[in-house]
Amino acid sequence: MKLRYFSHSAFQLTTNSGTKILIDPFITGNPTSPVKSEEVSADYIILTHAHGDHLGDAFSIADKGKVTFICVNELAEYCKSKGYNAHNMHIGGGFNFDFGRVKFTIAHHGSQTPDNFYAGEPAGVIVSADGKNVYHTGDTGLFYDMKLIGEMTPIDYMLLPIGDNFTMGITDAVKAAQLTSPKVAIPMHYSTFPVIEADPHEFKKNVEVKGIKSRVLQFGEEIEL
Ligand code: NI
Ligand code: MN
Repeated sequence: MKLRYFSHSAFQLTTNSGTKILIDPFITGNPTSPVKSEEVSADYIILTHAHGDHLGDAFSIADKGKVTFICVNELAEYCKSKGYNAHNMHIGGGFNFDFGRVKFTIAHHGSQTPDNFYAGEPAGVIVSADGKNVYHTGDTGLFYDMKLIGEMTPIDYMLLPIGDNFTMGITDAVKAAQLTSPKVAIPMHYSTFPVIEADPHEFKKNVEVKGIKSRVLQFGEEIEL
């Protein structure tokens, strides 16, 4: 499986069989995105919550092909109300899709659509495919149950926010990685805007001192998991 980082919290997973899964595709209006919305396509779009910097270009990307949204019930219903296909799930639940398994976790945050509809609880998500478990925490503050999440599903790659202000900052993110104990911690949700300016290499240094490997992805970089 491949993982591509578009900056902010936007990632693309491409499975060995070629299924493309986008998570939180915030491209247009994202000053750090290395790509344009037209260059991105998907089979599935997973949304952790409905804030504009996560819902992003999801609908315009979905307009180009047959896309299934995967999100918590209220947000899935919102997608359906706009005319899109969605698979409704909720926190604590997992489902086996053709490409692999998706399970939603808690996240401490909010979730309101750009047009001001309440979109249920925000979430994190674990995507399991091709023998790897990838945990995208969504936007969240630090919570102790990350320890339980890591115990129940050994995490290969943890994608976690470090930008502070709206989410965990570096200090809390280091603790989050220690609790979850992934093989590799990848920082996200930083330096998109001045208010969330943060140094991912400071996170990497501090988390590696604690014995957890970290990788800072360049905006646009794709790696083999
Ligand atoms: Ni948010
Ligand atoms: Mn956000």
